[in-house]
Amino acid sequence: MSKRVLIFDSGVGGLSVYDEIRHVLPNLDYIYLFDNAKFPYGELPAHELVHRCCGLISRVVARHPVDLVVIACNTASTQVLPSLRTLLSVPVVGVVPAIKPAAKLTRNGCIGLLATPATVSRPYTEKLILEFATHHRVLRCGSTELVIQAERKLAGEPVDQARIHEILAPWREADTSPDTIILGCTHFPLLKEEILLALPGVMLVDSGSAVARRVQSLVGGVNDAENGEAWAYCTRLDNKARLLQTALQSYGLESLIEWSE
Ligand code: DGL
Repeated sequence: MSKRVLIFDSGVGGLSVYDEIRHVLPNLDYIYLFDNAKFPYGELPAHELVHRCCGLISRVVARHPVDLVVIACNTASTQVLPSLRTLLSVPVVGVVPAIKPAAKLTRNGCIGLLATPATVSRPYTEKLILEFATHHRVLRCGSTELVIQAERKLAGEPVDQARIHEILAPWREADTSPDTIILGCTHFPLLKEEILLALPGVMLVDSGSAVARRVQSLVGGVNDAENGEAWAYCTRLDNKARLLQTALQSYGLESLIEWSE
């Protein structure tokens, strides 16, 4: 029997991580769960986020046993992992901002952390910066608007490039502009081209491939099944969610079902 992995995010951001995972492990079964009823996570108070993620994920896992859970969301991972791990008996892999790799890559010693408003101000993020980038200058930009632009892009709606330029303008004009940008929100790899248009020449770093390697080391590469099953759950199947169906299908997620308790 195929091993099954649950991938979780508030919206379509986790698809950027799922894509890396299924690239190295194409034969597993996948459930992609997104909590669009509570989107955006970057604006939720921390205690509400912990309560919501722990409740929802443990109920889904109780109905659909899985071998591993991936929290494909920096906003949730930087807050929820300890509580979630005490509730689940399977491994839980999180996604946190790639501060260590960015600190190794930068040439001018200036790094930009692009994430949600919650992630840029989390104590966990602070700890990562202190541990791996104390000798660098780390500029932070927390933006929910960019998260919404990524959702629009995958819904087939136009992306507002002028607005992306405006959001990132301080990093073009800073005395020392960052040469390396951490995409510390899983929605942002979906906007790579747009971000590069606004910040030409920068290096973009995300955690997707590191997470895929971690998943591979935990579930192992052995799998007899030719093609795994993959489907998506959302927490509210409204017209906005339906607009995402084409994008979900392009990631091999054939059906989109509303999760009901
Ligand atoms: N994709 C998410 C992250 O990595 C959350 C975006 C949001 O819902 O605000 O942080």
